[in-house]
Amino acid sequence: MEGLNQKSLERVVSQRAFALSSSFPCQICVMGFLCGVCLTSLFLSFSFSPFSPPSMAAANNGGGDSKSILKERERMMYTERSNLTGSNDDRVSLLYDAWSDLLFNKSSTKNGAQFSSINVPNAPHLENCKSTVEISQRLDTRIFNRSFPPWTTWKGNLDELPLSENDEQLQYYRDQIISQGAYPPWITGSDEENYPLTRKVQRDLWLHQHPTNCSDPSVKFLLADWERLPGFGIGAQIAGMCGLLAIAINEKRVLVTGYFNRADHDACKGSSHASWSCYFFPETSGECRGRALELMRDKVAREKGIITVKDNYTSRSIWTGRVPRRWGSPWSIMQPTTEINGSLISRHRKMDRRWWRAQAVRYLMRYQSEYTCNLMNIARHTSFGLEAAKIVLASSFSEHRIVQELDEKSMIERYVWSNEKAWIPRPLLSMHIRMGDKACEMKVVGFEEYMHLAEKVRSRFPHMNTVWLSTEMQDVIDRSKSYLHWKFYYTNVTRQRGNMTMANYESSLGRETSTNYPIVNFLMAAEADFFIGALGSTWCFLIDGMRNTGGKVMSGYLSVNKDRFW
Ligand SMILES: *[C@@H]1O[C@H](CO)[C@@H](O)[C@H](O)[C@H]1NC(C)=O
Ligand SMILES: *[C@@H]1O[C@H](CO)[C@@H](O)[C@H](O)[C@H]1NC(C)=O
Ligand SMILES: *[C@@H]1O[C@H](CO)[C@@H](O)[C@H](O)[C@H]1NC(C)=O
Ligand SMILES: *[C@@H]1O[C@H](CO)[C@@H](O)[C@H](O)[C@H]1NC(C)=O
Ligand SMILES: *[C@@H]1O[C@H](CO)[C@@H](O)[C@H](O)[C@H]1NC(C)=O
Ligand SMILES: *[C@@H]1O[C@H](CO)[C@@H](O)[C@H](O)[C@H]1NC(C)=O
Ligand SMILES: *[C@@H]1O[C@H](CO)[C@@H](O)[C@H](O)[C@H]1NC(C)=O
Ligand SMILES: *[C@@H]1O[C@H](CO)[C@@H](O)[C@H](O)[C@H]1NC(C)=O
Repeated sequence: MEGLNQKSLERVVSQRAFALSSSFPCQICVMGFLCGVCLTSLFLSFSFSPFSPPSMAAANNGGGDSKSILKERERMMYTERSNLTGSNDDRVSLLYDAWSDLLFNKSSTKNGAQFSSINVPNAPHLENCKSTVEISQRLDTRIFNRSFPPWTTWKGNLDELPLSENDEQLQYYRDQIISQGAYPPWITGSDEENYPLTRKVQRDLWLHQHPTNCSDPSVKFLLADWERLPGFGIGAQIAGMCGLLAIAINEKRVLVTGYFNRADHDACKGSSHASWSCYFFPETSGECRGRALELMRDKVAREKGIITVKDNYTSRSIWTGRVPRRWGSPWSIMQPTTEINGSLISRHRKMDRRWWRAQAVRYLMRYQSEYTCNLMNIARHTSFGLEAAKIVLASSFSEHRIVQELDEKSMIERYVWSNEKAWIPRPLLSMHIRMGDKACEMKVVGFEEYMHLAEKVRSRFPHMNTVWLSTEMQDVIDRSKSYLHWKFYYTNVTRQRGNMTMANYESSLGRETSTNYPIVNFLMAAEADFFIGALGSTWCFLIDGMRNTGGKVMSGYLSVNKDRFW
């Protein structure tokens, strides 16, 4: 333990020591940590479910691919030319393969005769990532000399529908809405379906992080790298950043995030390399980032505290610091919608932190990058692509073959239906199961208990039979096969067997895979209709936050255990 790491080491250990219950395994962990053992057991909370290598190779080409996907899809049309005389199964797999070719940009050799890429039907489970990101970018940029970006109550492309001259009233109304900034577009669901004040807080966070003039001498900064000790799981890294955002808000500083080790791989290109912006929109504007980096070189600015860094704060204030009070204490009116061990939890300790982490993680993940959007496309295609193909064939190729040129999309498609999310089979139940080395952090619960809760959900919603299973344990996958009346989806990857440590497992997957697929599973869990997890794990705690700021409060949350601080 030399000087270099001493500080961060101290930070971790003091956090543990400060926060921990006196549970015996955890003490062992803290002790073990000092000797470099049991490192991965601290804070780790994430799932691994990567795809098979071929998909990964395709994902690497990220941006370029999606461009060609877009081009292809613009030109696609439903057509009678396809030779679809084979059996139904053949047609389904042909269509699936054709979509795969488009997604992965392979020249289609074996199916070329049947489906040339210009006459492939639209894939309902794939998103047009390029255009989604363009829309997000527009919504993340302030209108020239106005207080807010163009946030209205019109969704998708509807906002771009040209208003005619005599719609003055509508125009006025729209301007009114924009001038209040009350509808940050990354929040879905009504106010009753989100944590208290979510819309207001998200708006204020955006404003705080995007000052009108970053060069104004009164703007102060906090520049912080993401935690990077190998023992930190991605969940812990995000939780740490949520703490730093709280400090930034309290000290009226713009938070600028630095080196993100999980994006330090070849697929994150250009300015997004080793940066959060590889996966999600950056937390602040490019001007503010530039200004912060400039100030870092200025000794006086650092001494005067115009810019601070992580070392200016104790680990305690980062991990368990004060939740911002500028919105009062909205957590005191949080709805009791979490069930643990058969009863609804209405009050617990640290409700303020639960509310804050939910707001912070939602803000940090408000928009996906094109890279992440493509990862989600690949995930949906690999899992649901065949089903999507069946649906499409059943709907359009049965009796009447629809000839429809997509270039001439109808108005309603272009504007009104522009906001539809990519298709997934619903209702979908997501489950995140983590065992193994988690024993130090929480009470570990077997797969059977998760399934017991799933049965409970299903007894109320009998039409739900689909589970998105996110786990790093091969054992869990094996056991799921005995539940025949459920349909399980999970990604095809080497999973942990036996007592392999998380760190070893993670490095066996490689940096890119071990980051991408937890993120895919995380976003899938945030989108699923229902969720069963273990609030004792930081990862599930953050999923809870995403759901409670993503319009899913009323889906409830079934947890097999509680957070260790409650
Ligand atoms: C999973 O991946 C392996 C190798 O990566 C492959 O051999 C196997 O066929 C795949 N399984 C499925 C169901 O796709
Ligand atoms: C596939 O990518 C290459 C460049 O990487 C490009 O030239 C080609 O047009 C793409 N093909 C399709 C079908 O998009
Ligand atoms: C269409 O498919 C049938 C059966 O697979 C095959 O015999 C025929 O040659 C194909 N026609 C064309 C034009 O590809
Ligand atoms: C925007 O700027 C122009 C010129 O700089 C000014 O005339 C106008 O009043 C400004 N509008 C607002 C809303 O501040
Ligand atoms: C931002 O503030 C700086 C320093 O006060 C000033 O020089 C600059 O002109 C401002 N920029 C704009 C666009 O107002
Ligand atoms: C942050 O730390 C630096 C170097 O240790 C110090 O010079 C600076 O005054 C500190 N800033 C604040 C606001 O404490
Ligand atoms: C769960 O509830 C049962 C009865 O309500 C109780 O006996 C048991 O101790 C509880 N378990 C935990 C872990 O709280
Ligand atoms: C893992 O299990 C194997 C066999 O069960 C045992 O030989 C080995 O020592 C264990 N390794 C660790 C790190 O516990």
